[in-house]
Amino acid sequence: MILLVISSIICLQAYEIDVNTFSNYLDVQNRHLHLEWLLNMDKKYINATSSYSFQVVGRQINKISLDIYKLNIYSTYLKNGVLLPHTIDSPYADSDQGQRLNIQLDRTYYRGEYVELSIKYSIDSKSRAISFMTKEQTSTKTMPYLFSQCEDANCRALAPLQDTPAIKQTYTATIIYKDTEAKDVFMSADESKEQFKILNKPQDEATFTWKYKYFIQKVPIPSYLIAIVAGNIQKVPTSTGGRTFLVSEPDKLAAYTEELKEMEQFLLAIEQYIGPYTWGTYTLVIQPPSFPIGGMENPLLTFANPSIMTGTGSGLAVTIHEMAHSWFGNTITCVNWANMWINEGFTVFLERKASLIHYNIPDDIKLNAIIGNTSMYQDMLGYGLESNFSSLHPDTTGLNPDDSFSEIPYEKGYQFLNYLESIVGEQDFKMMLRAYLAQYKYQSIDQQEFQNFLLRYLQEQGVDDYSTKRYKILENWNRWVYSPGLPPVFVDFSTNKLTQALDYSNAYITADGKQPTNWQDYKTFLHSQKQIFLEDLFKKAENNQLKLTVVEQIDKDLKLTQENDFELKFRWFRAILTAGDKNRFMQIADFLGAVGRGKMVYPVYRALNKLDHDFAVQTFRSHETFYHPIARNNIINILGLKDSFIQ
Ligand code: BES
Ligand code: ZN
Repeated sequence: MILLVISSIICLQAYEIDVNTFSNYLDVQNRHLHLEWLLNMDKKYINATSSYSFQVVGRQINKISLDIYKLNIYSTYLKNGVLLPHTIDSPYADSDQGQRLNIQLDRTYYRGEYVELSIKYSIDSKSRAISFMTKEQTSTKTMPYLFSQCEDANCRALAPLQDTPAIKQTYTATIIYKDTEAKDVFMSADESKEQFKILNKPQDEATFTWKYKYFIQKVPIPSYLIAIVAGNIQKVPTSTGGRTFLVSEPDKLAAYTEELKEMEQFLLAIEQYIGPYTWGTYTLVIQPPSFPIGGMENPLLTFANPSIMTGTGSGLAVTIHEMAHSWFGNTITCVNWANMWINEGFTVFLERKASLIHYNIPDDIKLNAIIGNTSMYQDMLGYGLESNFSSLHPDTTGLNPDDSFSEIPYEKGYQFLNYLESIVGEQDFKMMLRAYLAQYKYQSIDQQEFQNFLLRYLQEQGVDDYSTKRYKILENWNRWVYSPGLPPVFVDFSTNKLTQALDYSNAYITADGKQPTNWQDYKTFLHSQKQIFLEDLFKKAENNQLKLTVVEQIDKDLKLTQENDFELKFRWFRAILTAGDKNRFMQIADFLGAVGRGKMVYPVYRALNKLDHDFAVQTFRSHETFYHPIARNNIINILGLKDSFIQ
């Protein structure tokens, strides 16, 4: 009896549960997924079959529940063809988290047994995971285009899945497409030499030429890392003999390759800090401008918004960041979205370590941490400084975890790791992170497990002053993780480059519409200093200190309205709209139709909406079909429009 109790305690899954999945993942876990998709790019739907190898990990089961979101489910059946009855219910009245698909099994299955089953279903343009674009919406205008975006909880709109980062599975896929509708297709997987058995052939094989492409992802991954892109796209290496590749529409390929020629060096810089890249190759897809975020770390196939291609290399931190996810996020994964900093905080930490190795500008790292801290603070104010969304452990029960997306897991997580590093020491901290990766690779964990590991590691290594270090680590830990608002300990990133950027904006305010003597300093600024200058202008505008005459003088000197670098341009537009400037509405409307990256368009819409709601709505309506469904929904909320999702 006592033995039984002890063994059940040992077996108990000690990690936090995921409140954002409807699946019974604690009892049964998928080990392998196979997708067969027949793409109808023009008609915007996908005929799909998904096949699974579920392993029972609880005592026994007689049903399997999966997450779905606006998928059309046709049939569920066992590998031997026996149909299984299924039902669909919505545990929450609002459908933001989707529905639950319940599959009744033919018998009871016990711990250790496998259940192999398949689902026939289709995906249409209601799917929030896939953006179907017409050829007119692409750059080369020759073929339709589609891309997926699954993080956080959108892969349930791609296939019935255990949509939780807690579960990892390998996957294979067969993608069938018309040669007139796509030049090529890529997934977050390797191309497979093996051709998988086709379950459903295209019906009109005589009329069209269909192409077949086979993929395999041998590393177990969480379902939010499944990804696909198809269209008039092409893949080229970014350097000779390297591991890094680039995918985009052919008209942009040459310029992008030129700007990304250091990609291999980025990977080397990250490896220098953290150890070898184990995934094989690394491919970056530059998506159309409606891609709703800066970058997404799909394994072997990062997606990025073209706004990272500024022509000057100033946007490439996103590439380093997404590469760094190959270790933190894709190798070790957070067990639920409340622990997102286990992905993002660690990734920002590694990104900045690698940037320091590659560019060797310590001030730039500090300035980026300051910029990050400012946006984090703005996000906290948005949620409320007392809201648990302002902590490193947001509670998303009953909500779409996307709603808790903010800079907080990135920057508070980064500051926490810096703080821990300052206690442990740089060298020991680096070795600890390497050991942590070796220990938990291909697993999903929560922050408590990280703490356990950190302490165990330091003790086992016999580091100096272990007990003092242990005390310091634990002293503020829970406040770092659970308390809302600013970190419990101030982490100092100040540098005289910060003062210089702030002096510069002050000089413009003091010059009161004339040209300050130091106006040419801007040209020598680091990119991060330029951002800080523009952030400061915004702050001044909020305090009614930015006069329109000053706006005119700055624009005359620095030509910011004509700026090609959107990281600067969006900050400029936000600042001048907040100052009340109505002289650049046309350029602002153009900008809002040229990029669909949330980080850049939401702040501008917010400022525009405050100044002139009608013009904001009119601008939105004129670009509505350009935006990704996720961005479109967010803008609708910002503008206070009551609108239903485009069906
Ligand atoms: N994993 C994120 C993107 C993400 C997070 C998508 C949460 C959906 C939900 C990605 O790695 C990321 O952080 N992208 C940033 C850029 C980065 C340099 C901070 C972005 O898109 O802005
Ligand atoms: Zn990230």
